[in-house]
Amino acid sequence: MGPFDWLPHAPLEPLQLDWLQGVELAVLRLDCIDPLISGNKWFKLTGHLAQAHCARGVISLGGAYSNHLHALAAAGKRFGFATVGLLRGNPQENATIHDLKAFGMQLHWLGYGGYRARHEPDFWQPWREQYPHFHPVPEGGGGLAGAVGCGVLLEQARAQLHTLGWDDYDAWWLAAGTGTTLAGLVLAEAGAHPVYGAMAVPDDHGIAQNVQAIVQGEYELFDASRGGFAKVDPVLLEFIQTTEQACGLPLEPLYTGKALLALKQQVEAGRFRPGTRLIFIHTGGLQGRRGFNS
Ligand SMILES: Cc1ncc(COP(=O)(O)O)c(C=O)c1O
Repeated sequence: MGPFDWLPHAPLEPLQLDWLQGVELAVLRLDCIDPLISGNKWFKLTGHLAQAHCARGVISLGGAYSNHLHALAAAGKRFGFATVGLLRGNPQENATIHDLKAFGMQLHWLGYGGYRARHEPDFWQPWREQYPHFHPVPEGGGGLAGAVGCGVLLEQARAQLHTLGWDDYDAWWLAAGTGTTLAGLVLAEAGAHPVYGAMAVPDDHGIAQNVQAIVQGEYELFDASRGGFAKVDPVLLEFIQTTEQACGLPLEPLYTGKALLALKQQVEAGRFRPGTRLIFIHTGGLQGRRGFNS
């Protein structure tokens, strides 16, 4: 497979919002890189795909609305490699699953218990036997390989700072699910600027451990999960709607909406001085929003 030299470009745009209290905010729009392979997913995948050059395809796992599987399946279709998705729970139909099938991904439903076993040492054995020439990619495209692929985001943002009239920035703000994208930025920054992660899952999901396993560096994690992964509430939904009306930025309720709302709370708590320049990463995920619209 590969090599894959597609490097999509993420625009950096200023964000005007009435709660910023003098903090300057820009957004790196990974949701705009491609209609199908959207968000942070391709950047995480590049590191894994580089390791898969002897493979015939890629096998990975995720939930029934997984942005990661969606991007992987779309990439497989576009670049001509086979994909297998191991899914959490029981067979169901939704817009994401419809797309996975249309992109040609082979699906296997593991149930809930079967999916929980994904961290056990012998989990991959039967799948290796069934798909001997497939390269396994961990949940969410995680691990060091996934993180390394995200370093390029820093270059893309820095190359566009002049369009904002900025000569530098103070920190990054982004949603964290596995912490891989955050770890990639911390690696690439090498201490130059701190990275703040708004956790879309509760503390006990191991984001801090995942990041520590990849990098030691300057970062901080904030709980943004609002009671649990994929839990939504009226305040969040209204915030998403207001933000879209105010500045046209589309958000979804699982990652980007929760991350930006957590930033608002930190700004209101006085965490950042006026004049602080922050780059918020829009990590995509809008395909999953279809589940909430319907
Ligand atoms: C839209 C979106 N944003 C952010 C994340 C979190 O990225 P990471 O797992 O690298 O922390 C994910 C999934 O993991 C996602 O789907």
